[in-house]
Amino acid sequence: TSSATDSKELRAKLVLLGDSGVGKSCIVLRFVRGQFDPTSKVTVGASFLSQTLALEDSTIVKFEIWDTAGQERYAALAPLYYRGAAAAIVVYDITSPESFSKAQYWVKELQKHGSPGIVMVLVGNKADLHENRSVSLQDAQEYAEKNNMFFIETSAKTADNINQLFESQISIFS
Ligand code: GTP
Ligand code: MG
Repeated sequence: TSSATDSKELRAKLVLLGDSGVGKSCIVLRFVRGQFDPTSKVTVGASFLSQTLALEDSTIVKFEIWDTAGQERYAALAPLYYRGAAAAIVVYDITSPESFSKAQYWVKELQKHGSPGIVMVLVGNKADLHENRSVSLQDAQEYAEKNNMFFIETSAKTADNINQLFESQISIFS
């Protein structure tokens, strides 16, 4: 039998950034509560949720997740949330080239003003809408590689790759 002292506990502050409507809040809701909200409301300011993951070696990882507001009027608040973050999840919508441009804006801002060594992940969400895809897998992959980011496509709607996205964040500890 194992006692509580056998298991290590790790904490990680994560921040989600990206254009309004790309599905940041839905990604977090899917990960934390296993739900999808087709009528999700725009986030005001930011919202905070936490979730723990138990690893195979019984290490407990506690994610402290800041889900920021993508609307332009909140852009100036972003540094409050990405400051001190171990990882930034930069989200775009695979059906929206504008949201991919906005993701690149956030990557540049994080490169200039984020914590040194911040891990960045590029996420193409709404992968279920592949019939309306307008950002190619290859363009996104190339951009991510050039900027030393992980890259994954997800769907908060179908849950595709959502757990994988957060599990990949464990690499920030190594
Ligand atoms: P802000 O809070 O304004 O920054 O937006 P957000 O990025 O948090 O967007 P939100 O999660 O609220 O989702 C916006 C809309 O996209 C909602 O209508 C969601 O139901 C929808 N949506 C989110 N994720 C997906 C997805 O993976 N697939 C599809 N088809 N729709 C999604
Ligand atoms: Mg939101």
